Amino acid sequence: MIKLEHITQTYVGPDGKVFEALKDVSIEIKPGEIFGIIGRSGAGKSTLVRCINLLNRPTKGAVIVDGRDLTKLGDAELRDVRRSIGMIFQHFNLLSSRTVYDNIALPLELIGTPKEQIRSKIEPLIELVGLTEHVNKYPSQLSGGQKQRVGIARALANDPKVLLSDEATSALDPETTVATLQLLQRINEKLGVTIVMITHEMNVVKQICSRVVVMNKGEIVEQGDVIDIFARPQSETTRALIGQVMDRDLPQSIVNTVNAAREKHGRDNVHLLHLSFIGEEVAEPVISLASREFNIDFSILRGTVDDLQGRTLGTLTLLVVAPTSVYKQAVDFIRNRGVLLEEITNV
Ligand SMILES: Nc1ncnc2c1ncn2[C@@H]1O[C@H](COP(=O)(O)OP(=O)(O)O)[C@@H](O)[C@H]1O
Ligand SMILES: [Mg+2]
Repeated sequence: MIKLEHITQTYVGPDGKVFEALKDVSIEIKPGEIFGIIGRSGAGKSTLVRCINLLNRPTKGAVIVDGRDLTKLGDAELRDVRRSIGMIFQHFNLLSSRTVYDNIALPLELIGTPKEQIRSKIEPLIELVGLTEHVNKYPSQLSGGQKQRVGIARALANDPKVLLSDEATSALDPETTVATLQLLQRINEKLGVTIVMITHEMNVVKQICSRVVVMNKGEIVEQGDVIDIFARPQSETTRALIGQVMDRDLPQSIVNTVNAAREKHGRDNVHLLHLSFIGEEVAEPVISLASREFNIDFSILRGTVDDLQGRTLGTLTLLVVAPTSVYKQAVDFIRNRGVLLEEITNV
């Protein structure tokens, strides 16, 4: 559906220095999926997503949408293709002097659609996004979530096949974010629109994306099914985004427990582990097997279970009291059974 092939984007700064905002980036997005692009601010996400509708013309590379390379199209053809690609933004980009209805109608007005046709087109959209009571209001009279719903309905007015979302929930509070993501999910299912979600928040990816690419400094550092990325993050960038960098988010209560165990059993005999696993992949009772095999006890310090598009992602932080040689064998034993195991050594 959408293929970006070897995209490079260079900018020349005021000092004449060449800066590469995208370095040989290739992605493929399948029809009907919700695809995530995540990275810190400045990673190149917006630059990349704006290549999909050529708001941004890449310095090098091909942009294939529905089998056609957009970089080779003339202006008129490009305008047509652009109409099949809707976009929503962090700051909504609504016209303050127009009502909700007139904001949503704008894309159709621009192509000369007759008034009645506009009405029959956008009324169902207004209902779909839940703005029926607010059609005559102005943007200043709306909450952030409502403004984004206007943005979403406007983006859908032209029956796009693709919806690009550039940090569309970043200005919203957590509850409104959840509701907006649910709406996008409904739109994806009901209308079959392919959605490309740009975000710097892993929670957004976790809630609705099926696949994700992780970007850092203009490059893709990791990509795959969302659950795999969460269960087995490979890059430091991904780990930081997931918040699994253990020295950062280990609560004081756990540190206290570890210190108490060290006093009791001796520093060298106390070990701390972090496990992540995908429920369906771990058929064996790994922990109790290891416990019996090596005759050691594991204490659960904390655990989480998440549902990601119907698959189960679990994490456990465990305390182990055992001589180092036995502990090392237990670590290998667990690692060989489909569980990602990280040793926490910096407490
Ligand atoms: N038009 C431009 N001219 C020069 N530099 C730009 C331009 N657009 C973006 N950049 C630079 O490219 C890098 C990536 O920006 P951007 O794609 O907006 O990142 P993100 O959306 O991930 O925050 C940043 O360092 C930004 O300053
Ligand atoms: Mg951006």
